[in-house]
Amino acid sequence: MKPQAYREVDMNAILDIAPASASVAPALAAGLRRVEQRFREQLETPIAPVAELCAHVERYRGKMLRPTLTLLSGMAVDPALAETEIPDAHVTIAAVIEMIHMATLVHDDVLDEADVRRGGETVNKRRGNESAVILGDYLISKAFHLCSTLESQATAMRVGEITSMVCEGEMLQVAGAGRLDLSEREYFQIIERKTAALIAVACELGALHAARAESVRVVSSRMYDFGLRLGTAFQIQDDLLDLLGAEQVVGKPVGRDLEKGKLTLPAIHHLATLSGPARAASEKLFREGPGSAEGRLAIRQALERTGSLEYARATASGLVGQAKALLADLPDSPAGASLEALAGAVISRQF
Ligand code: IPE
Ligand code: IPE
Ligand code: MG
Ligand code: MG
Repeated sequence: MKPQAYREVDMNAILDIAPASASVAPALAAGLRRVEQRFREQLETPIAPVAELCAHVERYRGKMLRPTLTLLSGMAVDPALAETEIPDAHVTIAAVIEMIHMATLVHDDVLDEADVRRGGETVNKRRGNESAVILGDYLISKAFHLCSTLESQATAMRVGEITSMVCEGEMLQVAGAGRLDLSEREYFQIIERKTAALIAVACELGALHAARAESVRVVSSRMYDFGLRLGTAFQIQDDLLDLLGAEQVVGKPVGRDLEKGKLTLPAIHHLATLSGPARAASEKLFREGPGSAEGRLAIRQALERTGSLEYARATASGLVGQAKALLADLPDSPAGASLEALAGAVISRQF
């Protein structure tokens, strides 16, 4: 795909899919602008090649899902925050989490040998794997530096714990690559770590820094559970888009999961429904099909035949339902309603 022009400040993209309630939208937009600014400040450097790479990754804004969740979780737990200025701690936490997310993407694109991300060139494509590996390290160290400015040591520890979990998830995935007997249980172990945990902690820490002292543990742990379910559904949808989406819409290469030997939920379900020669034929298709358009079409048709795409969609939708139910004890608020809408958006999104 030809890299497209830089997307104009598209920082609220997830909110284009699930617009926030009118009464929280201004506070949220102002908060996200501060997150973006903090992110940029943290990456300021006089070292020209580093500055060029940082400018590149900053210009290709993503959906800003995780910062949006941190800010909305804070406002949902303490609705008064929507009327005042969002606390500085929330802005810092959101910027830290987005920076860690960005680092994992820069590294993940090396692992996946991807040349497109957010509709633009990946760092590995632009400057090679060496620069991408070091830039990823740089983003992680900047994130932890920024995190250490928070007063709460417990928060920094939690961010460290979760970031290790993300790496464990990616390593588990690498270890499982090429295995056509990967189980559903193993798949969930991988995606909860590599994706859902960071999304979950974005929610937890937004709540933790807003909640009133007596209920803080209960509320923030419930928000973690909300984010874990939402994040798991989010990765299932990402995996569906890899099988069904178009690169121009998704903004990154598609068909790469099977090409890299990574079995995702539809493929795991499909193989589990088969045995004998039928299973052997599908295994062959999964090994040899992903490289060509005809192969990918045959894969989609095979998954369709066993209801495996529908199974994945239903699983994601069930998780979103569970996530929404976890919001029931929050005070009724526009931010709570926005979180609920966002939970639905993660499985209807096409990018
Ligand atoms: C991409 O995350 C990586 C996954 C966890 C699937 P996002 O889809 O949130 O990426 P951006 O930030 O919007 O580009
Ligand atoms: C998510 O998995 C990767 C990370 C959590 C870093 P994917 O490999 O599916 O992410 P994309 O599709 O490249 O964004
Ligand atoms: Mg990838
Ligand atoms: Mg993917």
